[in-house]
Amino acid sequence: MHHFHYRNGILHAEDVDLARLVADTGTPAYVYSSATLERHMRVFRAAFAPLPVDIFYAMKANGNLSVLRTVARLGGGVDVVSEGEIRKALAAGVPAERIVFSGVGKSDGELHYAVSRNIQQINVETPGELYRLSAIAGALRRSVNTVLRINPAIGAGAHAKITTGDESNKFGISHADALRLYGEGTRLPGILMRGFAVHIGSQIFDLDQPEEAFGRLVELVRAARAAGYNVTHLDLGGGLGVHYDAREAGSEDEGRVKTYAAMVRRVTHGLDVHLGFEPGRVIIANAGILLARVVALNVRAERTFVVLDAGMNDLVRPAMYDAHHDIWPLQQHSDAARQPYDVVGPICESSDSFAVQRLLPPLEIGAFVAFMSAGAYGASMSSTYNQRLLVPEILVDGPRYAVIRPRQTYEELIGLDRLAPWLTEG
Ligand code: LLP
Repeated sequence: MHHFHYRNGILHAEDVDLARLVADTGTPAYVYSSATLERHMRVFRAAFAPLPVDIFYAMKANGNLSVLRTVARLGGGVDVVSEGEIRKALAAGVPAERIVFSGVGKSDGELHYAVSRNIQQINVETPGELYRLSAIAGALRRSVNTVLRINPAIGAGAHAKITTGDESNKFGISHADALRLYGEGTRLPGILMRGFAVHIGSQIFDLDQPEEAFGRLVELVRAARAAGYNVTHLDLGGGLGVHYDAREAGSEDEGRVKTYAAMVRRVTHGLDVHLGFEPGRVIIANAGILLARVVALNVRAERTFVVLDAGMNDLVRPAMYDAHHDIWPLQQHSDAARQPYDVVGPICESSDSFAVQRLLPPLEIGAFVAFMSAGAYGASMSSTYNQRLLVPEILVDGPRYAVIRPRQTYEELIGLDRLAPWLTEG
């Protein structure tokens, strides 16, 4: 269940009237619901109870400091994939012992930073990374909890671009090499081999592939133990899908989390390992929306384009993955008068399209709309393409709201660049 609903004909986020909010903050703007975020964290944890699982929220989905602080206050950790994410997680107050570091291309500098800050666990993805990590940890006289991320040759997910577990994907150590490398790891200075990790894709609905992939990991744990190695941790990644049909989002998503947890319990039954997860989308997608305003209508004989002030630089998912986001008008309308619109942004390329022939109530210039389920991979993937300003993010909590990232200013945008000295002469 999410906390965006109509009250007196106006879309609200929790108790905040979004028509009032946009008068204050302008558009485009992301709005997040604390209650929804908190609920998703609780639902995820409760689904595994009484198993004490670790939730490492995948902050690539949404790395705003206030979102991270909310997650941390609920006892969550984070999954990070860069030094920037580590720094941001620490700045938000996530303790180092609740941070796991994933990623296929960690640089020496990033590994050095992670080890020096005592990050809880490093998920190693290539043999070379294991040796580099050992050298770095050895030089710092530290010992690092290490797990091997396995490529199980089982991919899953809603789109080829977000599948990660397939043999053709760049991620992870091949299953066939895993045991040998694990053994080598146990003999390397600075390395404490703890277990295995897997993440096979994103926006997963069919649980058959995760079940098979987790089964492979369980086999690996048994094989490693049979070879005399200690295995204490399994990191089962993220990937669980959500409903992008915002009316349906909620109870069914909760049901899916429970089914997923039951599957995990079945597959790992009796294994005696500590389980960790890296959910991103399922925690934050339905906790956020992107508000936009109609700036132009291009009415042509065969179709009408409704042009918004939000573009693909603000929300790239439709352009990049053909993703569907529900579009709700801020002002509630009856469904009866709906008509087809092509909903587009102002960016100068045709991929800047959010929806084709989408049935929406009559929209006029100045009307506001909300892209639903935009909390994950929305703001975090935004850019300044076309020299457009990064849009604000706003966090709602009951009747109150706060700007948790102000709209970028043109001074800040221009200030990012420098003139080469020879261009300033004469
Ligand atoms: N762990 C690892 C190692 C990952 O690579 C990812 C996502 C996650 C966890 C979190 O997955 P989630 O629970 O959010 O599915 N930008 C795309 C999604 C890319 C996902 C990348 N990896 C989108 O907008 O659909």
